[in-house]
Amino acid sequence: MAVIAGNWKMHHGPNEALDFLSDFDVDAVPSSHELIVFPSNLSLHALATAEQRDSRVQVGVQNVYWEDSGAFTGEISASMAKDAGAAFALIGHSERRHVFGETDLQTQWKVDIVVSSGLVPVLCVGETIEERKAGLVEEVILRQLEVALDSLCSAPRFLVAYEPVWAIGTGETATPEDATFAHGTLRRRLEQALSAPHASRVPILYGGSVKPGNAAELMEARDVDGLLVGGASLDATSFSQIAAAAG
Ligand code: PGA
Repeated sequence: MAVIAGNWKMHHGPNEALDFLSDFDVDAVPSSHELIVFPSNLSLHALATAEQRDSRVQVGVQNVYWEDSGAFTGEISASMAKDAGAAFALIGHSERRHVFGETDLQTQWKVDIVVSSGLVPVLCVGETIEERKAGLVEEVILRQLEVALDSLCSAPRFLVAYEPVWAIGTGETATPEDATFAHGTLRRRLEQALSAPHASRVPILYGGSVKPGNAAELMEARDVDGLLVGGASLDATSFSQIAAAAG
């Protein structure tokens, strides 16, 4: 059982999203795997309501605003995303934090509204290369988890994604040992906040340059329960190869 998620970022408009669905071979993916695709906001409704979408391919939103409605030109709310067909919401992705300047406090507000809207939050955490070199991996990922922890623990379900910033879109991947260290750190904090059996059921995904060729090795690492795939999820064949390789 693994969660295999694809983050399409600013790729695949509505028509390309439908083409992806037609090309994606869901039967190649072991039935025990859970599949989630995070399309752009413009493609979300088309994807969620498409006749050719197998119900195993679940849909999530890449980002939401922290208010439910109002004069916030260009933003979308969690309840709108849910109405459009999203079941999951990615919060605190590294591009939100490092390209758009999203703060820990803002990710907390976003997790709050996602949980109260009934979407399943997927909180992304991860250190920059400077933070890694300074030995701050544990401190950074725990700080990013901590701000949203109360809200997450109040939700019926949530996921966490460890995505080292230096591995995203760079072709560099964390070693299985790096992943085990970070995932184990997150798991231990979740065990303190929840009961151990409950914490063991929270999927912790790895993300950062996942490809068909490294998916199996990363999935074998301890405490890695799934993968969050960016670039390699855009192509239906490589995404299904990753899902198939994931065990
Ligand atoms: P990448 O992106 O697989 O292209 O490195 C991962 C992500 O940003 O979720």
